[in-house]
Amino acid sequence: MIKVIGLTGSIATGKSTASKYLEALGCTVIDGDVIAREVAEDPRVLRRIGSTFGGKVLDDEGKLRRKKLGALVFNDEDALKKLNKIMHPAIRSKIKEQLETLKDRSQNQTKNRFQLEKSLNCVVIDGALLIEMNLHPWVDEVWVVAMKKDEQVRRLMERDGISKTDARKRIEAQMSTEEKKKFADVVLDNSKDPEYLKEQIVRELSRLKEQ
Ligand SMILES: Nc1ncnc2c1ncn2[C@@H]1O[C@H](COP(=O)(O)OP(=O)(O)O)[C@@H](O)[C@H]1O
Ligand SMILES: [Mg+2]
Repeated sequence: MIKVIGLTGSIATGKSTASKYLEALGCTVIDGDVIAREVAEDPRVLRRIGSTFGGKVLDDEGKLRRKKLGALVFNDEDALKKLNKIMHPAIRSKIKEQLETLKDRSQNQTKNRFQLEKSLNCVVIDGALLIEMNLHPWVDEVWVVAMKKDEQVRRLMERDGISKTDARKRIEAQMSTEEKKKFADVVLDNSKDPEYLKEQIVRELSRLKEQ
């Protein structure tokens, strides 16, 4: 049996930390950030970015100048919309493709061997924008990593080396944790130590296994 978990949450709530635990517990993780980076290297995508934002966002080799593009879209909602319109469909289809490959593989494995015990084959989509990009209809369960905003600000400042103002800005530019929780089948509380997060993940995975 294969189960697909959509792991999401606001920036710096602990999605990557949770993914790492899920991977250690045997799940296969599709990392939305890695896919977004790969898509941003696709020559067809780069050409569209170049023609939309001008050659200044590409370097001499035609690679993306991330900082330049970031600065362009950071304070300009229209520009961000344009960029998302180029990036999101490409990210979506790449995630779908990987998901289908993993599902096929899992089905073949099940066909090929006797299963003496209930085994759980789990795939995790780690995506900050899982809901915004409408990926949640593809998953069996949505798991939202959540915590109080004060601590989120602190962790984001420390991880990315940014000011409190910038950290707040980045958090407020995204869908709030409260909003995301409305879509959640499971809310993982990451307000305490990482071990506490891990305990919840172990518990939820064994629940899934019993289903
Ligand atoms: N329970 C925790 N206690 C302390 N620091 C944590 C905890 N969980 C995550 N962190 C740290 O907070 C930062 C954000 O976590 P991360 O997993 O990168 O978030 P996300 O992937 O959601 O952006 C990282 O530096 C991470 O090491
Ligand atoms: Mg992350």
